[in-house]
Amino acid sequence: MVAGDSGMSSIVFSNVSQTYHSPSDESHDTVALKNVSFTIGDQEFVGIVGPSGCGKTTILNLIAGFLQPSTGEIRLEGARCGYVFQKNNLFPWKTVRQNIEFGLQMNGVAKLQQQTIVDEYLRQMRLEGFADQYPHELSIGMQQRAGLARAYAAQPDTLLMDEPFVSIDAQMRLHMHELLLDIWTKQKKTVVFVTHDIDEAILLPDRVFVFSGRPGMIKEEIPVTLPRPRSHHSLNDPHYGVLRKQMIDALFEKTEDKTLSRQE
Ligand SMILES: Nc1ncnc2c1ncn2[C@@H]1O[C@H](COP(=O)(O)OP(=O)(O)OP(=O)(O)O)[C@@H](O)[C@H]1O
Ligand SMILES: [Mg+2]
Repeated sequence: MVAGDSGMSSIVFSNVSQTYHSPSDESHDTVALKNVSFTIGDQEFVGIVGPSGCGKTTILNLIAGFLQPSTGEIRLEGARCGYVFQKNNLFPWKTVRQNIEFGLQMNGVAKLQQQTIVDEYLRQMRLEGFADQYPHELSIGMQQRAGLARAYAAQPDTLLMDEPFVSIDAQMRLHMHELLLDIWTKQKKTVVFVTHDIDEAILLPDRVFVFSGRPGMIKEEIPVTLPRPRSHHSLNDPHYGVLRKQMIDALFEKTEDKTLSRQE
C-alpha cells in the first residue's frame, strides 16, 4: 500500500485481489475479491452494493489498512479514515461520551472543545440522555448511532461506512440520511458507503459500484444522476424509478466468471 498526504484524498485500487488463506487446507482458501480496480476522488460519495459475502467489508478493511491485498496495488492520498464498522462499533468499557471523545483525544482536541463537540453529536444522534451509559445498556440501534457519532465527531477526511443504518428504525433512518448528506456537504469528505438498501444506494452516493457474488468483482458502475441537494423527497423524483430498476437489474444480472468453481 502506498500512502501520501497532499490534503486531497483519493483511493485507487489497481487489480486488487484478496484471498483469505485457510490455516489447515489450501482447498479451503476463500477468494473474496478478484481484480478489483477503481478510483475514488476527493469528496466523492461512492456506494457499494452486492450480495452477502462478495467482499464489501473486505474492501473497507483494505482501504483502512487493516488488510494488505494478496495481489494488486492500493494507493491512498490523504485518507485519514473514520470507520463505522458493520458491528462492534464501540469500546464496551467506555461510556457513550468517552467513546465519542476517543477520536477527539487522538486528534489532540482541547478538553473543553471535546465536550462541546460531543454534546453536539449526542444531540444530532438523539442520544442526549445516554451520555453516561455503557454500550450494553443501549439498544442496538442506539449503539449504532453512538458509533456514528464517534466517527463523525473525529472529522476524518474519508468516512468508511459499513451498513451503518441497518439497525436504525425507518423514521430515524431518514434523519440519519439527511444528517450524513449535510455532514458530507459541509465538511467536504470522501465517503465509501456499503449498503444492502437500494433506496439508500440511490439517495446518498454520486456513483454506485455493483458487485458480483464471490469472488467480488465490479459488475457495473452506476452514476446516480439525481440532482443535489437531496433529501428523502428525492425519492419522488421521476428519475428515481429508472435508477432503481437499473440497480436491481445490475444486482440480479448473472456474471460469466466460471474460473473459480469453489467460490460460488
Ligand atoms: N478474516 C477472514 N478469514 C477468512 N475468510 C474471511 C475473513 N473475512 C471475510 N472472509 C470471507 O471473505 C468473503 C467476503 O467477506 P466480507 O465480509 O468482505 O463480505 P461482505 O460482502 O461484507 O458480506 P456481508 O454483506 O454479509 O457483510 C466471505 O466469503 C467471508 O467468509
Ligand atoms: Mg460486510
